[in-house]
Amino acid sequence: MADKKIIAVVGATGAQGGGLVRAITSDPGGGFAARALTRDVASAKAKALAERGAEVVAANVDEVETLERGFQGAFAAYCVTFFWDHFSPEKELVQAANMAKAAKAAGIQHAIWSTLEDTRKWVPLSDNRMPTLGGKYKVPHFDGKGEADRVFTESGVPTTLLLTSFYWDNFIHFGMGPKKGPDGKLAITLPMGDKKLPGIAAEDIGKCAHGIFKRGRELIGKTVGIAGEHLTGAQMAATFTKVLGREVVYNSVKPEVFRSFGFPGAEDLGNMFQFKRDFEEYFCGARSLEFSRSINPALQTFEQWLTANKDRIQIG
Ligand SMILES: NC(=O)c1ccc[n+]([C@@H]2O[C@H](COP(=O)([O-])OP(=O)(O)OC[C@H]3O[C@@H](n4cnc5c(N)ncnc54)[C@H](OP(=O)(O)O)[C@@H]3O)[C@@H](O)[C@H]2O)c1
Repeated sequence: MADKKIIAVVGATGAQGGGLVRAITSDPGGGFAARALTRDVASAKAKALAERGAEVVAANVDEVETLERGFQGAFAAYCVTFFWDHFSPEKELVQAANMAKAAKAAGIQHAIWSTLEDTRKWVPLSDNRMPTLGGKYKVPHFDGKGEADRVFTESGVPTTLLLTSFYWDNFIHFGMGPKKGPDGKLAITLPMGDKKLPGIAAEDIGKCAHGIFKRGRELIGKTVGIAGEHLTGAQMAATFTKVLGREVVYNSVKPEVFRSFGFPGAEDLGNMFQFKRDFEEYFCGARSLEFSRSINPALQTFEQWLTANKDRIQIG
């Protein structure tokens, strides 16, 4: 343990951070030790990480002193925010600044900031193809993260900016699984037209982050994007049909229809999918499959992920 470089992982009991902790502890010869940061060191999830060999330390991204303690003595830090817990890009910006400040104070030598595009660089607020949300955003859960890139770059902390992708796990946890339409057919509904959506098994994000840290200094100062596959709605529906053994069709709706679905975040997600649809070439290009596989040779395809997870998806 003492000769290993410590990676402090924010969100360690969650999807991205959990995948990273599991990647580190599954690779005892890899030169890294995992420090799992959590608000509750006594939770079942935190205990499970300790059982895997992670050091578990209390920290809260709202409290910079706790982050400073959590990062102390670590070589690296994985930094992520939790938009869907509060729906506030302003809060994400403050939390990112807290992490960058703590990383600087602790002398972190390699940070990864889990980010997404500030879509306003492509769709300025004056562009009415999609509504402006919250007065100053197009895709709030993207824009705040993209805006926060500068707090890491300006902090002087050696940082890799990591562009993540749509988790296929949203078919389990985000209510996006196949549902019966008025015609009785099972359908997945996305406003992507015939454009490709980069997706990834959430667990692979942490494995990719581990791969980035294992590259040493090579990816510091760079923006890198990851995805498991780039698939159209029709291709995902065909894979559902194959794996479930039941017909699933793709229900392509207009972004304005998706925005009107009324669930919390529907407008944000409607704008997000429209951005991915309208800027498909850029968005897929920024998430090279070849690069993703080079840092994570175990990268799952959608079919592999679905085959392993089909029983966890609520259908109908
Ligand atoms: N869903 C998608 O398709 C997708 C795709 C790309 C990016 N994202 C982004 O991913 C981010 C969320 O990451 P995730 O999916 O890994 O999260 P997650 O699975 O929801 O896990 C969040 C973990 O973070 C911890 N946490 C929450 N608030 C905290 C705080 N104030 N201080 C410290 N820890 C806190 C919680 O752990 P404790 O309770 O143990 O503290 C929780 O287990 C979001 O910002 C989202 O926009 C999502």
